[in-house]
Amino acid sequence: MAKQYFLLLNLIAVTFCCVVLAFEPSPLQDFCVADPASPVKVNGLACKDPESVVAEDFFFCGLHLAGNTSNIFGSKVTPVTVAQVPGLNTLGISLVRIDYAPWGINPPHTHPRATEILTVLEGSLQVGFVTSNPENRLITKVLKKGDTFVFPIGLVHYQRNVGYGNVVAIGALSSQNPGVISIANAVFGSEPAIETDVLAKAFQVDKSVATLIQSKF
Ligand SMILES: *[C@@H]1O[C@H](CO)[C@@H](O)[C@H](O)[C@H]1NC(C)=O
Repeated sequence: MAKQYFLLLNLIAVTFCCVVLAFEPSPLQDFCVADPASPVKVNGLACKDPESVVAEDFFFCGLHLAGNTSNIFGSKVTPVTVAQVPGLNTLGISLVRIDYAPWGINPPHTHPRATEILTVLEGSLQVGFVTSNPENRLITKVLKKGDTFVFPIGLVHYQRNVGYGNVVAIGALSSQNPGVISIANAVFGSEPAIETDVLAKAFQVDKSVATLIQSKF
């Protein structure tokens, strides 16, 4: 009986430890406004002196402005993360505005550190994410103004404007620094490059095709 109790305690301890350590920790103070100039390396950014904290540390202006979508994707992400708002440091939350020209896409990518919840403010937007191996099931939907959709942490997802007007969306992310891994860039545009024969085998194409795709990045 005592042994079973001990095992149960262990299980609880392991579960608790991993849930706590895998996500941004609960702050142990009101705030820890980032001091990017600090030489101290911690998991996040060092705090500046609370006495010198000002309203601007928690402020961002500009999400009323449309991003410039004149690029190959026809979309533009305007981030509001700890890089733009130092007051977000240690708080586990951030925001993006995304603009999409008609038929513009936000290409397949993942956020290694955040779940995202996206709300469409204007237009019609197809969204989708793919479940992990072995199913790799695409879960997709067309969103209208006022609709919200969730992209679970780590899963590959994308969006496409399927209307004739611009789309504006706001995404909230569960990390001060969600990170972005664009699939095509990571695989075909790494520096130095992944060996072409590895890509040819992985994508089951001729080496010349892998080389051609690599040349685009
Ligand atoms: C938008 O980006 C394109 C391509 O970089 C550039 O030529 C154009 O001037 C930009 N437009 C505005 C309004 O900044």
